[in-house]
Amino acid sequence: MRVAFVASEAFPFAKVGGLGDVVGSLPQALRKKGLETTIFIPWYWGINGYYVGEGHFNFAGGREQFGIGHLEHGGVRYVLVGLPDFARDKPYGYEDDFRRFVRFQMAVAELLRDFDLVHCHDWQAALLPLLRNLGWFPGRTVYTIHNLAYQGIWGSQDFYAWTGLPGETYYGGGLEHRGAINLMKCGIVNADAVTTVSPRYAWEITTPEGGEGLDGVLRALRWKLRGILNGLDTEYWNPATDRYLKHRYSVEDLSGKYQTRAELLAEFGLEDRPTLGVVSRFAYQKGIDLILGALPGLMELGVNLFVLGSGDPNLERSFAWVADRHPGRITYVQGYNEPLAHRIYAGCDGFLMPSRFEPCGLAQMIAMRYGTPPIARAVGGLIDTVRHWETGFLFESMDAGGVWWGVSEFLKHPDRKQVALNGMREDFSWEKPATEYLELYRGLVAHG
Ligand code: ADP
Ligand code: GLC
Repeated sequence: MRVAFVASEAFPFAKVGGLGDVVGSLPQALRKKGLETTIFIPWYWGINGYYVGEGHFNFAGGREQFGIGHLEHGGVRYVLVGLPDFARDKPYGYEDDFRRFVRFQMAVAELLRDFDLVHCHDWQAALLPLLRNLGWFPGRTVYTIHNLAYQGIWGSQDFYAWTGLPGETYYGGGLEHRGAINLMKCGIVNADAVTTVSPRYAWEITTPEGGEGLDGVLRALRWKLRGILNGLDTEYWNPATDRYLKHRYSVEDLSGKYQTRAELLAEFGLEDRPTLGVVSRFAYQKGIDLILGALPGLMELGVNLFVLGSGDPNLERSFAWVADRHPGRITYVQGYNEPLAHRIYAGCDGFLMPSRFEPCGLAQMIAMRYGTPPIARAVGGLIDTVRHWETGFLFESMDAGGVWWGVSEFLKHPDRKQVALNGMREDFSWEKPATEYLELYRGLVAHG
């Protein structure tokens, strides 16, 4: 069985959030089970592949050329798709993202002739199931929703002129949603199977509260939707071998964790108090603003905060401001910082994740693996991965009061060390989920 992955990110070559982790690690887990996959990603600035040739596709009435690169990582083959608009410093977050990723997919479609199955991830790969249905390439398709909040929406005018797709695909091909092109919907409608990244989220997105306007579509197609919980690369995220930690540790001996903690607090001038870490994109989804609302209460409860993240400039400014006003109690580091993220997961006492919604969430799993119990909102994948009072703490209210309650539960627990050890003993590996994907692929290809 020849399987292709198509996505906008794959760690370590491109990562904005958990999608990068998943696309970077699931193929390695599948490989251990005997399935070779090929990953197609854009050839972003700085990815060190070797050039093997060029391809062409029709776009906007002309013929566009793209470069094809190869590289191998962890035994997995990558195909890099070189288009001019991708040689930028971050994968996405630009005005022209829609157009960039439509072109990316049209180029990838040219390279998919030899695959039995194409596994498409999020809206940046959601046009492909339709292109398959139109006969552009053979093979079955799986579409995975990592985040329903980002749908790839665009007015319909230019789209047909760019792609040359037949106009009837607007309604008949599932591209239309509320009067615009919606790639997320297109992927859901056209794929042979649709998955999302936790069982709980698979249910939530079929409700009006969680469906982001697509719940009706998802309810109608529930028969082909299922939740498969994400796994972690447990070799990379391992406190016993972590390359970014000076003091390593395991469930048998936590002294390395305490040393990491002492050094982290000293380096950033924090007082010796229960310290809660945050490692996050600053987006509405993550409820970072709820922490700001709860701040006076949290300071009174006596905890420190160590926050790493970037995104929404208002939140960045606010955290810089409160950190400035609470020396010794709050540290804020702006930006994406892989080494520091590892030290926070390892060196904090608790991990705060007040998400408004969370398809799966990897950060809480990483935190548990590093013996840092999460204090998280009871939503989505957080419900499926955190056991209240046993491996972490879950709170219901989506407001500052909820955050405060969660933190006070954490402080009240008589044996936080036991909670940490329980979390470290959980199995967050790809072992089980990779088997589920493999069975899904096999079933689809066998009945193709
Ligand atoms: P999402 O994909 O919605 O951002 P996840 O919890 O699934 O949330 O995955 C987030 C991933 O991104 C984790 O690996 C986390 O460590 C990483 N991450 C998020 N923000 C930062 C940051 N500022 N610096 C380093 N890593 C980060
Ligand atoms: C998205 C979601 C996150 C999930 C990740 C990987 O970024 O926000 O919850 O863990 O995708 O599937």
